[in-house]
Amino acid sequence: MNILFICLGNICRSPSAESIMNKKLYDHKLHEKIQCDSAGIIDTHEGQRADQRMVRALSKRGYTSTSYSRPIEKDVDFEEFDYIVAMDNENFKNLTAMAPSSEAKKKIFMMCDFATNRKEKEVPDPYYGGESGFELVIDILEDACEGLIEKLKKEL
Ligand code: 4NP
Repeated sequence: MNILFICLGNICRSPSAESIMNKKLYDHKLHEKIQCDSAGIIDTHEGQRADQRMVRALSKRGYTSTSYSRPIEKDVDFEEFDYIVAMDNENFKNLTAMAPSSEAKKKIFMMCDFATNRKEKEVPDPYYGGESGFELVIDILEDACEGLIEKLKKEL
């Protein structure tokens, strides 16, 4: 099973989702069955490592970010991935507009829909804010990744 996390720039939220999910998949011994990747709506940061503020916040909680920013490739990614998971409503709207078919549209989900404890409906963009925004991103993603894993376990 293949999961693709999407945010705007692919340097803060979606690479974090990828790191957190990879660690949790390993902890749940599901890393051989479920693979994940991340991409951005825009290509402004293509080839760049995740934002240093995000990397620092992740590392404090034991996560490592290894990804390089890339824009979504709609013809390849809607084919290759089973779940395409948006961080906010704007990402969801953009993904829906670019989906090549109605089957492809059914693959698009909101990250917060998998959360079981957090009440947020979106993972807020931390890019222009302070340190607490990066912490909040991780808080939400940890909960949503656990929920996503529980859902995927039932589909394996
Ligand atoms: P991300 O954060 O979508 O979580 O990676 C952002 C990164 C870059 C920009 C906006 C949000 N930007 O405007 O360049």
